[in-house]
Amino acid sequence: MKPAVLVARAVFPETVARLRTVFEVEDNPEDRIYSAEELSRRLQGKAGAFLTASERIDAAMLDAHPQLRAVCNMAVGYNNVDVAACTARGVLVTNTPDVLTETTADFGFALMMATARRIAESEHFLRSGQWNKWAYDMFTGPDVHGATLGILGMGRIGQGVAHRGALGFGMKVIYHNRSRLPAEQEAPIGARWVDKATLLREADHLVLVLPYSAASHHAIGAAELALMKPTATLTNIARGGIVDDAALAQALRERRIAAAGLDVFEGEPKVHPDLLTVPNVVLTPHIASASVATRRAMAELAADNLIAALTGGVPPTPVNAEVLR
Ligand code: DGY
Repeated sequence: MKPAVLVARAVFPETVARLRTVFEVEDNPEDRIYSAEELSRRLQGKAGAFLTASERIDAAMLDAHPQLRAVCNMAVGYNNVDVAACTARGVLVTNTPDVLTETTADFGFALMMATARRIAESEHFLRSGQWNKWAYDMFTGPDVHGATLGILGMGRIGQGVAHRGALGFGMKVIYHNRSRLPAEQEAPIGARWVDKATLLREADHLVLVLPYSAASHHAIGAAELALMKPTATLTNIARGGIVDDAALAQALRERRIAAAGLDVFEGEPKVHPDLLTVPNVVLTPHIASASVATRRAMAELAADNLIAALTGGVPPTPVNAEVLR
């Protein structure tokens, strides 16, 4: 008998069809967001789960489903899964790194540019019929080329943003990360490791690319925003909760920083109402990895992981590889 799996969100039909060749698949073509109770009900008897970042798997969920052997996220981030609890119970967790690095870095750079050069704000102005003359100071903002790019979280995506800035736009790159990059990775882009306070003080454009965890919750709050230049921009393509959205909205309203670009939000898809009323923020609905090719690659990699995990293969991108040993 084929093992049973849950595909908890709508995904490419080709990916579901491929999974059906190996598994009894319960899928969700209507793309309803399951409550924790419904998710738990649908996990009954399932050996594996194909998830996105919106489904939570915690210790209680695992205890209710001791038959579950693999939790495969179609996302590089996996803060929706209690990895320690999975490991303790021998449940494999996988994610989808690498396949989305360049697409997400493209988007981070685009969002930073849109934020600095006030593209959304000026488009709203034009569309609402307010444009009646050219003016020397209309929608002026900070330059991107030659400016100081600050990266908080210098993993693969952070390095992708840094390469774009240094090599394409002549930006000076500073970064803060728990571990420093080897000199041979810093040198081609002239990247300099600095402490967090220096990063906040010196960056003209700060881009957040660090994973969410209890330690990074509100890594950017009122105190950190107060260290930034009033001309600086902040871009978040990492996770909601890394920025204190209420504090950010207030800093934007009071022009304590120039502008922000946000693709992720605390409690998304809800957005803090104050962010919806300040003009100097560009808001996008968690789409940094949303190119067609990348989303297909993410879905296929999540499927590869699930198939390997439940058929005795080697999952390509495990998070807790120790479970395989
Ligand atoms: C990721 O891959 O983590 C993206 O943010 C989509 O959830």
